[in-house]
Amino acid sequence: MKGRAPFSSRPRESTSSEEASSTSRSPPIFSFSRNLVSFSGKAMVEEKPTMHAVWYECYGGGAAGLKHVNIPVPAPKKDEVLVKLEAIGINPYDWKVQQGQLKPFLPRKFPMIPANDVTGEVVKVGPAVEKFKPGDKVVAVLNPMTGGGFAEFAIAKESQTVARPPEVSAPDGAGLPVAGLTALQALTQVAGLKLDGSGPLKNILVTAASGGVGHYTVQLAKLGNTHVTATCGARNVDFVKSLGADEVLDYRTPEGAALKSPSGKKYDFVIHCALGFPWSVFEPNLSARGKVIDLSAGLKTMMTYSLQKLTFSKKLLVPMVLSPKGKNLEILVKLVKEGKLKTFIDSKCPLSKVEDAWAKSISGCATGKIIVEP
Ligand SMILES: NC(=O)c1ccc[n+]([C@@H]2O[C@H](COP(=O)([O-])OP(=O)(O)OC[C@H]3O[C@@H](n4cnc5c(N)ncnc54)[C@H](OP(=O)(O)O)[C@@H]3O)[C@@H](O)[C@H]2O)c1
Repeated sequence: MKGRAPFSSRPRESTSSEEASSTSRSPPIFSFSRNLVSFSGKAMVEEKPTMHAVWYECYGGGAAGLKHVNIPVPAPKKDEVLVKLEAIGINPYDWKVQQGQLKPFLPRKFPMIPANDVTGEVVKVGPAVEKFKPGDKVVAVLNPMTGGGFAEFAIAKESQTVARPPEVSAPDGAGLPVAGLTALQALTQVAGLKLDGSGPLKNILVTAASGGVGHYTVQLAKLGNTHVTATCGARNVDFVKSLGADEVLDYRTPEGAALKSPSGKKYDFVIHCALGFPWSVFEPNLSARGKVIDLSAGLKTMMTYSLQKLTFSKKLLVPMVLSPKGKNLEILVKLVKEGKLKTFIDSKCPLSKVEDAWAKSISGCATGKIIVEP
């Protein structure tokens, strides 16, 4: 791809096969829409690049609600880059928006092209872009409000895009953005952990440590001065130990359900990637100023947090929402490059069969990251 334009816009004669609808279940990998123009007295069409994308048009429907379409390749604005995608990461956020869990705020409008975690090659840049040029390999986190990842091309803000060195493969890089950034934010910004191993020893519990966020959280936590207890299903106990966890609990056992550290540790921080658990389960397992960082905070968490603040409680249930930052993505990419952080890939799936990946993510039984390839 380097050295030549990956697509162009040039006039050509029309063919009847191109009269087909722009929506189809089996779109061509790359095609052209047309505009009639007059050229030397002959009917010609100006080719406009289009791409295969997958969107949904209303709330609900799960995998069956995804539709394969041919739509124009988007054009980058001032501070944006157009990326030809190589891999796309799925997160529960993507299908939670489709399910209407973030109604009435998201999606901003239908149709919605889901997914925000991408890797690929820059093919066009906006006039104000300074850091990237066509041919650069990148990892990017797309605007979560507008998505755009389930496609052959996507637009990313320059500020949310980072260079991808050859040591970081496209699928490994595509796992990083939302899950890795969430793990990093929870550990370093909320829990105050130093990844260089300095600072006092912290006892940390990671729930759902086998999932996308959890598997990065365990690895990052072990770069700091920590003792890590983790929960996961029985089938993933060895996997989670291999990530560096000091002790692992099967969440379907009584000890796992009680979140009790086998060695009797009291947790300074819980990075809560699983769903549910009343405060009464966490509370006895926390150190005097222990905090539970809840990544899936609902109304109940908000109410508990407000009450705890009002009553000056030392133990806290803290809701956390990711604020994606390019500089944090750079940290993650560097750690992968140095071999200090790994993406475990649950499964890869082509964009033409993305329904399978969507259904697997909804099932909640991914080990590591589910990756889609255009
Ligand atoms: N606040 C934010 O900004 C933010 C950002 C990212 C993610 N999140 C949220 O964080 C949560 C985790 O995301 P994710 O991407 O890591 O999900 P994920 O990859 O889908 O997690 C799946 C894993 O969780 C395990 N699991 C499920 N229930 C469990 C339990 N009770 N105890 C222990 N393990 C359990 C599953 O194991 P089994 O298959 O053995 O059941 C599976 O391996 C999601 O709710 C997501 O929406 C929030």
